[in-house]
Amino acid sequence: KKYDVAILGATGAVGEAMLSILEQRNFPVGKLFPLASSRSAGSTVTFRNQEITVQDVEDFDFSQVQIGLFSAGSSVSEKYAPIAAAAGCVVIDNTAQFRYEDDIPLVVPEVNPHAIAQYKNRGIIANPNCSTIQMLVALKPIHDAVGIERINVATYQAVSGTGKEAIEELAEQTRALFNHQEVKTEVYSKRIAFNVLPHIDVFMDNGYTKEEMKMVWETRKIMEDETIMVNATAVRVPVFYGHSEAVHIETHKKITADEACALLEKAPGVQVMDRREPGGYPTAIEAAGQDATLVGRIREDISHPRGLNLWVVSDNVRKGAALNSVQIAEILIETYLA
Ligand code: A2P
Repeated sequence: KKYDVAILGATGAVGEAMLSILEQRNFPVGKLFPLASSRSAGSTVTFRNQEITVQDVEDFDFSQVQIGLFSAGSSVSEKYAPIAAAAGCVVIDNTAQFRYEDDIPLVVPEVNPHAIAQYKNRGIIANPNCSTIQMLVALKPIHDAVGIERINVATYQAVSGTGKEAIEELAEQTRALFNHQEVKTEVYSKRIAFNVLPHIDVFMDNGYTKEEMKMVWETRKIMEDETIMVNATAVRVPVFYGHSEAVHIETHKKITADEACALLEKAPGVQVMDRREPGGYPTAIEAAGQDATLVGRIREDISHPRGLNLWVVSDNVRKGAALNSVQIAEILIETYLA
């Protein structure tokens, strides 16, 4: 059986990855409809060696498709996801628009695939935030084994998470600096080239940024455990692809580094890369373009009797967005739509 698929935001960083991942994983796509705004309607994208014309979402009839992969921003999803769902299209939404609504499932396939069943509520499934996804892929087996009480995390996030304009901004600022030219700052509030910004998404009343609070809210919803405490600092770094995270956890029962390593070795979606020597750890360079979440620097916390440290790296555009959405779509068709 084949499924007709719309990709909303097909010209963006995540949309492009969705096209190539559908192709690489041989997703049973019948007709493919790349959608964007009027700005890029009429341009083309390539799918399975064919040029397909991008259509303006405003004129699109969603009853032509069974699945919609949305990644064009929250306000676009707010408007079009209910329209698509009403037309019978199941929407897998990559924005934050619906993530915190109780009747909308928020899914990481390695963690809570059963939640996909709730797509029936409103015809919408939410894809979590990129930083949350990779962290939970690594922490789920540990939580199942010994229970996680608290997570303290600092992220090192690539500019591709912001979108194409941010990728261009980092490249352009770098080029300008090397050429002793004026550096323009448009996407971020300070220069990102050769700098590190402790600010992702908007500031909230409690002093955290929204990106940080997403990790709190989403961890609890996906792990289905409201008791997990999360303290996050989200930082943008001048890396194009791949988010890194220094994750410090406190567990209910003590777990040794060796035990954690053994659990992670057999965990779905995880690849352990942990030799205690120079270069024996993962970085964004190895993670970029890969499906697996890479984990290294696994060690017991010398400052806490039940503490464990991990370094978690993943391709934010793939596992953090496009791949996770396609994996959700695969379970959806195999388990529910077939
Ligand atoms: P467009 O090319 O028409 O601007 P990125 O995250 O890399 O910035 O990409 C954002 C994606 O979302 C692009 O494909 C962009 O299409 C699309 N998009 C942005 N705003 C809208 C909108 N109002 N309606 C439809 N698509 C939109």
